[in-house]
Amino acid sequence: MSAPVEFLLSLTRTLAIMSLYGETHPRRQGAVEHSYERLTTLLAENPRPQFSFLMDEVVYGKRAMRELQEWEWSRRLADAGVQRLEIDDGVTLDEYAGFLELAGDLLSGGGSRTTTMRPNVVTRIRFGAVGLQGEAREAGGEGRLATATLSYALDEEVEAVRFIHQEMGEAGTLALLEAEAVVRSLSLAMHSSNRVVIPLLKLKEFDQYTTTHSLNVGVLAMALAETLGFGARDVRAFGTAGLLHDIGKVRVPRDILIKPGKLSAEERAVLDQHPVDGARIILESDEQLGIASAVAYEHHIMIDGGGYPVMRYRRECHFASRLVHVCDVFDALCTDRPYRAAWEIDRALAYIGERSGSEFDPSIARAFATMMQRFELQIGAPPTGDAAPVVAAS
Ligand SMILES: [Fe+2]
Ligand SMILES: [Fe+2]
Repeated sequence: MSAPVEFLLSLTRTLAIMSLYGETHPRRQGAVEHSYERLTTLLAENPRPQFSFLMDEVVYGKRAMRELQEWEWSRRLADAGVQRLEIDDGVTLDEYAGFLELAGDLLSGGGSRTTTMRPNVVTRIRFGAVGLQGEAREAGGEGRLATATLSYALDEEVEAVRFIHQEMGEAGTLALLEAEAVVRSLSLAMHSSNRVVIPLLKLKEFDQYTTTHSLNVGVLAMALAETLGFGARDVRAFGTAGLLHDIGKVRVPRDILIKPGKLSAEERAVLDQHPVDGARIILESDEQLGIASAVAYEHHIMIDGGGYPVMRYRRECHFASRLVHVCDVFDALCTDRPYRAAWEIDRALAYIGERSGSEFDPSIARAFATMMQRFELQIGAPPTGDAAPVVAAS
């Protein structure tokens, strides 16, 4: 068992024991000490472990802990207001015991009383709430992690997306864990302050088109799904689908992708193959990504049946495909391309409005326009990097 899993299991075992035995009971003291040992082992491996307890899973750093999927304690901790836990190296046994008492009180519903009684106890352990439904909830109290400190820095996400594309291009494997971690991290970034923000990246170099575009479409798809009232799990599925929608472009030769002028008919045919290739890549990697493969296949199909791949029999595309289609076109229009400058947001929204009913699903197009007014856009630039695969506009 890994050190973070052992630590979390010992932590929750201790919380359970503490709820059963009085303060002076030896069983309780023994459990605290045992758990502190597990923490020391973890800190030797990682001097600043960070956990997020979501409703149905635990994220360690940026990775979902597969061993603890559907772990009931994740929900219990999240419900009690411990959605995020950060521990610094050097934490003492007393500090840890103080934290356990606070957490125990929160779990039993008496958090505020204890936190006012213990003002400066927990300093190297921070914990707090991260609102996942648009509102950050402060559990309050000393030592709590201010939600503002979770404000986004997407450097690691950009790196992870680069890695996903590289792995696909070079090794032919889809780095699914990384994709899921990026989506979780984007969800946290969106909800890191009191208002929902849409953390979009502005393209700095044409070489970064793949990463910035994929991240932006993932973020927009999640924000839009949330606007439409989907639950957290569905929102993440839409995010993964948005993130991976252009994965098929790893099979398109670079000279076609970066060509500034008009593509020849042959080149166009190669580029237009990316939805089919993308769907195949995703289907081959994991059958649980049904939505992502549908989106990869259908994201260039218009609601009047136009676009590509050409459907032999007309049918309605998956809802997620229609949703990602809007986000995809919006981000492509608002990005500098070798052959044209980026459009202003209003112009792109007007374009989507005009083509609502022919290219775009009208209700989704309308929701998108509303969302852009309601949510705050945060536009940042990705870090400069090299070796990023280059992908042309969709
Ligand atoms: Fe595409
Ligand atoms: Fe795209």
